[in-house]
Amino acid sequence: MQLSSPLVRRRSRNLETEGRSAMASSHSTRKASIPKAAAHKASILKALCAAFALLFVVAHPAAAQLSFKPTAEAVQEDKLLNALKEGDKITGRITIPDAMAASLIQPAGRDWRDFHRSKLPIIGGVAIIGMLALLAIFLMVRGRIRVDHGFSGTKILRFASLERFTHWLTASCFIVLALSGLNISFGRILILPLCGAQAFATMSTYAKFAHDYLAFPFMLGLVIMFLIWIKDNIPGKIDLQWLRQGGGILANGKRPPAKRFNAGQKGIFWMVIVGGALMSVSGWFLLFPYIPANVTTMQFWTVIHAVIAMLFIAGILAHIYIGTVGMEGAFEAMGTGEVDLNWAKEHHSLWVEEEQAKGHAPSGSTPRAVPAE
Ligand code: HEM
Repeated sequence: MQLSSPLVRRRSRNLETEGRSAMASSHSTRKASIPKAAAHKASILKALCAAFALLFVVAHPAAAQLSFKPTAEAVQEDKLLNALKEGDKITGRITIPDAMAASLIQPAGRDWRDFHRSKLPIIGGVAIIGMLALLAIFLMVRGRIRVDHGFSGTKILRFASLERFTHWLTASCFIVLALSGLNISFGRILILPLCGAQAFATMSTYAKFAHDYLAFPFMLGLVIMFLIWIKDNIPGKIDLQWLRQGGGILANGKRPPAKRFNAGQKGIFWMVIVGGALMSVSGWFLLFPYIPANVTTMQFWTVIHAVIAMLFIAGILAHIYIGTVGMEGAFEAMGTGEVDLNWAKEHHSLWVEEEQAKGHAPSGSTPRAVPAE
């Protein structure tokens, strides 16, 4: 075995020295017991048995370590580990092609474990529970965003079937990836005590398979989404105006003009593209650890994957809220693909004008108002 730090080499010499003196002292104990045994026949037998047992114990490698004064060694071990700096490693010589298997002790692993056990739950808790709390407060204070003029009863096509297919492909994969990923991060703390080891192990195995395999359709959905929606998501001056007016959703009244996607939706689009790309690259390195071929790099990508996941999940919760309970008439856009003309005029007035100019949307004067739900 090759010990790469000088401290380690010193320690290994100490271990050898202490090992030899310990063996010598146990040998002398054995010798001392024999002359005593000569006095009584019965004690000879006893002494022989004891000597035999001692010989066995001394010869056994694990027990030999016991004679290294474990308490003192533990202190030294701790000193040794603390002396190793970031980037230092204790490595062994290996004959298999997996270079990572040569790492025996790597101090950066402690930071990683500390991150996983103490920092990640805080980041995840603040991001996800904080977002849920904010959305609940927003719903209580603002209430559901209604269609001010009521439903007209006239429909306009908002998303074609390829767009809806891509959205649901990516969204359904995301939900499973998020739940199975959260199980990897927090399942042992939150779910294991509720369902027991056996059920947790079975569930986690399936969840892990789902996470690994659904990553691929998720990435495919991400690429299609990028290609079909990029043209409508380039930020422009109109978005600043929309943002200045808070999207007109903070209070009933005037709605700022918007094209096919408003500034809020563009924000979600770029969050999904950038967040999804980071999740894909980091996840790829976790899926195929032979690519980074380095434990420290793996730990780096795990941290990126886990932190982005928490922020991404929190962001998507806001998107799910506004597309369902938060805004009347919004879900139909991705459900049936068609939205009410009044809804479209209130939230995407410039887009409706474009569609009407192309002859894709009915152009009416004052639409018929019908009661909402
Ligand atoms: C965008 C949706 C995704 C979310 C929300 C998500 C979430 C997570 C979370 C929370 C973890 C646990 C991290 C930890 O505690 O250390 C994880 C692990 C992992 N993820 Fe993802 N992930 C997503 C996408 C992906 C993708 C696209 C891939 C592959 C390309 C991937 C591959 C992995 C792998 C291999 C692990 C490690 C599993 C293990 O430790 O056994 N993930 N993911």
